[in-house]
Amino acid sequence: MAEHLEIAQGSKTEKYSTLYKQIVALTESEPDTIARMANVAAMIHATFDFWWTGFYRVQDNMLVLSPFQGPLACTRIAYGRGVCGTAWKEATTIIVRNVEEFPGHIACSSASKSEIVVPIFNTQQQVTGVLDIDSQYLATFDECDREWLEKIAALLS
Ligand code: SME
Repeated sequence: MAEHLEIAQGSKTEKYSTLYKQIVALTESEPDTIARMANVAAMIHATFDFWWTGFYRVQDNMLVLSPFQGPLACTRIAYGRGVCGTAWKEATTIIVRNVEEFPGHIACSSASKSEIVVPIFNTQQQVTGVLDIDSQYLATFDECDREWLEKIAALLS
């Protein structure tokens, strides 16, 4: 796999389609989860104009900060807390159009206005972590993001 990837262009769907193929090619030969997460965060972040793109992994019954791109973030999130802890508890993707309207939202940065959190599952369908993306704009994420980010998260199981 080449070290340098072309940044995907086009509509959001076209970008995700190209990005997904790049991520498959880059991750299929790498068994280490942290290494895969690191490159996936970098590739998503480089493709879209997001504020923060990264992962939290379940460690000792907490979500612990893992590879990310963007400003520094809180390191530990409890089960059921914030958008990330809620996505973990409910084992489902959560799209937040306006973070100020999400009860208990954890504001790592005041610049973050909307957010999507996608759980990562193991083969027993337990949540092992989450992919968290923040946008500096309201209502950035929709069903298109959910569909593609869930496909990407499935590559990190
Ligand atoms: N906003 C998240 C916390 C993580 S940061 O956005 C990187 C939440 O409410 O869970």
